[in-house]
Amino acid sequence: MSLPKVSVIGAGQVGATTAHLLALKGLADITLIDIVEGLAQGKALDLMHSAPVEAFAGRVVGTADFGALSGSRLVIITAGLARKPGMSRDDLLAANASIVGPIAERIASSAPQAAVIVVTNPLDVMVALALQRTGFPRQRVMGMAGVLDSARLRAVVAMRLDVPPADVQAMILGSHGDLMVALRDSITVKGKPAAGMLPPGELDQLIERAKNGGAEIVSLLKTGSAFYAPASGVVEMASAILRNTHAVLPVCAALQGEYGLRDVCIGVPAQLGSPGIERVVEQPLSPQEREALASAARQVQEMIAKLPAAPTVGTR
Ligand code: LAC
Repeated sequence: MSLPKVSVIGAGQVGATTAHLLALKGLADITLIDIVEGLAQGKALDLMHSAPVEAFAGRVVGTADFGALSGSRLVIITAGLARKPGMSRDDLLAANASIVGPIAERIASSAPQAAVIVVTNPLDVMVALALQRTGFPRQRVMGMAGVLDSARLRAVVAMRLDVPPADVQAMILGSHGDLMVALRDSITVKGKPAAGMLPPGELDQLIERAKNGGAEIVSLLKTGSAFYAPASGVVEMASAILRNTHAVLPVCAALQGEYGLRDVCIGVPAQLGSPGIERVVEQPLSPQEREALASAARQVQEMIAKLPAAPTVGTR
């Protein structure tokens, strides 16, 4: 059986862990690309050495040559700097824009039919940049943050209530930063509202902990940021696209009128399948949630305006 080709750009912790999960789940043949000569090659070979034991069929190759993007069904961009303790994701804007912009242009020339998932921070702005520089339709360029942020909320609720994490559902929308929007009514355990299982006020504390989950890990690790859960998030999105599952996940998408917002990339529920984003799902929000989403969008728009080239996102 031939597997679709997925290219992962950046062979750091997030990129290599993403490649590992894609391989273990049998989702793809994987090309790992990194400009640091030997890094992608070494990690790819190490992953291939695990193939007989793990019994996965996908081929994993590593290279420093971006020409290897050719034929990719999906490209995942993880390249860029990670936060250091005390930094916000937004502090990475200029440095990571100079990395993601040229990569997006290279994807457009070498893999013009690919869908693109961006993981590099500041996430929402990097999605806008990738959309701009690839010139791809907005259905094919998206970012991973909401699955991760929602998973962190699900995990902290599960740890507090001592229930299986997969039994907890939750949805976080908005930007991947201070203005995440946790939908309180979405937080359930086997379908029952989690708020009813906790003393008053505690759900808010858990939401805060989840929102700060990335920073909590940065301060513990001291060098580098989270990678296991981010990789799980991106592989869940990749799986929905490669297997055409039509799953509805929180995805950073370019909006053109949905939720009353346009010319901005922000986390919203979206149905994923073969083409990428099949549709943005407009679910009812409380007035406070709607306002929180709008202010997150305004903040992202201000940052998009700081990007080197004039932004014209999502015009196709
Ligand atoms: C985090 C980084 C990946 O949230 O933004 O851990």
